[in-house]
Amino acid sequence: MAAAGSAVGLGNIWKFPYIAGENGGAAFLVVYLICVLLLGLPLVMTEFLIGKHSGKSAYGAFKELKGTNRWQWLSWMCMLTAMLFIGFYFVVTGWCFNYLFEALTNVLHGAEMDSLSTHFTQVISNKPRMILFSLFPVLLTATVLWFGVNKGIEKLSKVLMPLLLVMMVLMAVRVLMLKDSAIGMQFFFQADFSKLNPQAVMKAMGQCFFSLSIGMGALITYGAYMPKNQSVSKTSMQVVILDTLVAILAGMIIFPAVFAFGMDPAEGPELVFVILPAIFEQMSFSYIFGVLFFSLLCIAAITSTISIMEVSVAFVNEATGGRLNRHKSVLLVSAAVIPLVLACVFSNSVFDVFDTLTSCVLMPLGALGMALFVGWNLPNYNHFAGKVFIFSVRWIVPIAILVIFLNSVGIIQ
Ligand code: PFF
Repeated sequence: MAAAGSAVGLGNIWKFPYIAGENGGAAFLVVYLICVLLLGLPLVMTEFLIGKHSGKSAYGAFKELKGTNRWQWLSWMCMLTAMLFIGFYFVVTGWCFNYLFEALTNVLHGAEMDSLSTHFTQVISNKPRMILFSLFPVLLTATVLWFGVNKGIEKLSKVLMPLLLVMMVLMAVRVLMLKDSAIGMQFFFQADFSKLNPQAVMKAMGQCFFSLSIGMGALITYGAYMPKNQSVSKTSMQVVILDTLVAILAGMIIFPAVFAFGMDPAEGPELVFVILPAIFEQMSFSYIFGVLFFSLLCIAAITSTISIMEVSVAFVNEATGGRLNRHKSVLLVSAAVIPLVLACVFSNSVFDVFDTLTSCVLMPLGALGMALFVGWNLPNYNHFAGKVFIFSVRWIVPIAILVIFLNSVGIIQ
């Protein structure tokens, strides 16, 4: 459940609908699902395996399993990816906290569609406000990490993940009763492949890594905390299914509402922040629903930031041979994260560069390295499913990542 908490986050509810909306809806969904099956599942298993077998986080795991320093670059890359990724992720988490605050104070009650859209622009351009709301989750995450990830996160996730799911189902049902919602369902489920291009396929792959927390060692770290009798394949499947379910549900809420309210599905990053408050306006008990949903969204974001920042905290702790203990590592990493977050608050281009560089370059590269590491260095299995898995991480995953990558930058057609 903690790993599911890492996977389910802003990637599912904020990013997936707007990327799908910009890239043709249903056609994107199909490519995304193929990526999840072909790359996502084996890579989640790969990271869990590395963590569980080594009992170490990204820094020590490769060395522990291989006995040499030859794979150490991969752990440095995980750390770099995690730091850049969290820089912009905290800013979006800040948007969520801002909307939670506004739901609590009921300021958006009665707002029209147009004003909701301008409101979003006003929110993100109010720098002092954004600094406050982005640094608050940094403080919250650091506090949880201070006490250690395995104290309470699992219990918290066990209650909150199902609650989030139930709420999303309720919202999807309500949205489907809106006029013209069928057009949105069609947009999301009836594929028109003419909208697909190599960049869209690249984005689907990046989104798959983003959403499943693959490629920066977060799942290695959680794998290290896994009890020895827990099945890697079963856990991976549960995480992948739950994560995909939440993304699809988010699409089933957002797209019918987009068409019912006469909006454009390719609106971009503001999509959910405009649509969600508009949906609550249509529901009875709108205040309670709004507060509850944005609370859950913030918690989903925080369970993800915890796992990302834990990569760096565990890294610093292991790399210094324990000389920087957990508390000192948390302080050091938090101090390093703050300027990165501020850079993303102040500059949209830094925000975009961090987002695209991590999703489309660093996470695929990290995943490629880990697949090759497990595929070519760990012993093969002697049962069928194990053999399929090793074949997939040896050949299918690396080739698919390379082809998608080279195709998107135009080197191969
Ligand atoms: N999977 C998270 C989401 O969908 O929001 C984001 C994430 C968490 C990415 C942890 C990477 C990671 F290591």
